[in-house]
Amino acid sequence: MSNVAIGEKRLHLPLIQGGMGVGVSLSRLAGHVAKCGAMGVISSAQIGFRESDFAYHTKEANRRAILQEVKKAKEIAEGHGLIGMNIMVALRDYKQHVQAAIEAGVDCIISGAGLPLSLPSLVKDTNVKIAPIVSSSKACEVILKSWHRKYQRVADFIVIEGSLAGGHLGFLLENIQNNSTQKLLDILGEVKAVVRKYEALYHQKIPIFVAGGIYTNDDIKQALTAGADGVQMATRFIATDECDASDAFKQAFINAKRKIFQSSIHQLACRQERYQHYF
Ligand SMILES: Cc1cc2nc3c(=O)[nH]c(=O)nc-3n(C[C@H](O)[C@H](O)[C@H](O)COP(=O)(O)O)c2cc1C
Repeated sequence: MSNVAIGEKRLHLPLIQGGMGVGVSLSRLAGHVAKCGAMGVISSAQIGFRESDFAYHTKEANRRAILQEVKKAKEIAEGHGLIGMNIMVALRDYKQHVQAAIEAGVDCIISGAGLPLSLPSLVKDTNVKIAPIVSSSKACEVILKSWHRKYQRVADFIVIEGSLAGGHLGFLLENIQNNSTQKLLDILGEVKAVVRKYEALYHQKIPIFVAGGIYTNDDIKQALTAGADGVQMATRFIATDECDASDAFKQAFINAKRKIFQSSIHQLACRQERYQHYF
């Protein structure tokens, strides 16, 4: 498998471990993934939930946890791979999370669950690489056009989430339910056409990672053959020893039947996890 350059930073494996909240991908998972030469991603969603003052000083507890988790992840990674932070646009304290991630020294920030239109201004004058998560070429175009017009800045890489990805996707529920969403590798083809224009404009390669339902070596090969520069995988990491989730959470994924929607399992398991920590 080939290296992927993200600006002057380098991934020895073309793989991003997708950010998973709440508390599913923290320093342990992200650090060990980075140690293997890939990108380990911490999710900032309610990351401070283990802090004793989380219920009263949520903002401060989240900030503190961002700093601690990045520090620990970097120690585990021992200088290998990259450490990223997934910060959802929909978070109330989006700007503060981005600022804390920069202060903590992350290599990259990946933002979805909304259009991260202000992200370039938040990382201005830093060396932090930025990527939007998109589910269509239209969303990709809107973001890249806006970043170019407002900030003369382009994405350092792109993550495309197809309809099989866990998370907050840009698809209609009814299209997911009747299996009529655009296929991930078809979206890839259209996003590549959009990205090509900006690569020419900025004289810069913009790697594209595809996500959603990628589990096996063959899945990865298929994505790379179709023209992706790498893949983002999340669910596959949950049942690992290194994953930061509780054993009950991991077990829920192991027990899950294929017919159940992945997103339902995700939401169920998140609730279990939350309850476990509160009571
Ligand atoms: C348990 C779980 C939690 C997730 N949390 C987040 C999150 O906090 N922010 C986000 O942008 N995506 C989140 N995702 C989406 C992943 O980052 C990833 O893109 C997606 O799950 C990839 O598909 P896969 O799980 O089939 O590999 C989550 C996914 C899972 C399974």
